[in-house]
Amino acid sequence: MSPSEQEIRDEDLKDFLLTIKRHSPYDFTEYSLKSLKRRLSKILLENKLNLSQLEKEILHNTDFMEKVVKSITVNTTELFRDPQTWMHLRDEILPKFASSKKINIWHAGCSTGQEVYSMMILLEELGLLEKSEVFASDINSDVLETARAGRYKFRFNQAYIENYNLVMEHVPDKTSQHGKAHHEKFFTVDKVADVIQMKPFLTEKPVYKKIDLVKDENLFHVKFDLIVCRNVIIYFNYELQNKVFNLFYNNLYEDGCLVLGVHESILGPFTANFSKKKQAYFKK
Ligand SMILES: C[S@@+](CC[C@H](N)C(=O)[O-])C[C@H]1O[C@@H](n2cnc3c(N)ncnc32)[C@H](O)[C@@H]1O
Repeated sequence: MSPSEQEIRDEDLKDFLLTIKRHSPYDFTEYSLKSLKRRLSKILLENKLNLSQLEKEILHNTDFMEKVVKSITVNTTELFRDPQTWMHLRDEILPKFASSKKINIWHAGCSTGQEVYSMMILLEELGLLEKSEVFASDINSDVLETARAGRYKFRFNQAYIENYNLVMEHVPDKTSQHGKAHHEKFFTVDKVADVIQMKPFLTEKPVYKKIDLVKDENLFHVKFDLIVCRNVIIYFNYELQNKVFNLFYNNLYEDGCLVLGVHESILGPFTANFSKKKQAYFKK
């Protein structure tokens, strides 16, 4: 904890989370306390409040409540985040679907959409995009708006074009005849205006929905070949993680695959229901 951060006691935090649960549609009571404390300290500092003042404030002001709720969740993401996972998808997971008629993919906790675009770019280069249905969800409606627009600040994403190059370098059976497709095929970069803009054939493809993994069912009402949920359950406690694994298990086809983040794994009862290969868990 930095000296400027306020120390938040577990009991006070739990009371605060119960207040949010009672007075909003959100339930963070099964999130890991450590990360919540870090986020809340930041919010308190920015608003020059202590926890009980913040609690009073959000009860009087629903817009502020919504704002606080949104800043509690971590939205960090990037194009081709953790390139080793994308290489595994490229070489071993996605090619399994080459003979499928259709591929249903769900990005749960997609944030501002860079993960969704990374997937569509890779699918296109493997010749699989056309037969893919891409679904993406998040608890936060603001990040979904950004995802739909596919418009990002160049200066925040510049470094990740490197990730693109790393992953695209060795696309097997690539549809492009002249080696790696240039990224301009997928997004334009305007350095002066500080904008990366995804091309319409990508922005128009996914179906986005606000889904809260704590309390909602699968609101897409289809089953999936692939569910990607990375860097989301890391913020959940063990019980909530298992609840989410149950949701994913029930909504995957037989042999379907769940991809988790590099610091996440299935522990507990669901280990018996999946076979693991790196970050990929195949439904048994
Ligand atoms: C760190 S981002 C991960 C984004 C992307 N999957 C990646 O790995 O780059 C975590 C996302 O999970 C979302 N999230 C947190 N709690 C959630 C919940 N209960 N239901 C759905 N999404 C949630 C947050 O809003 C945030 O956008």
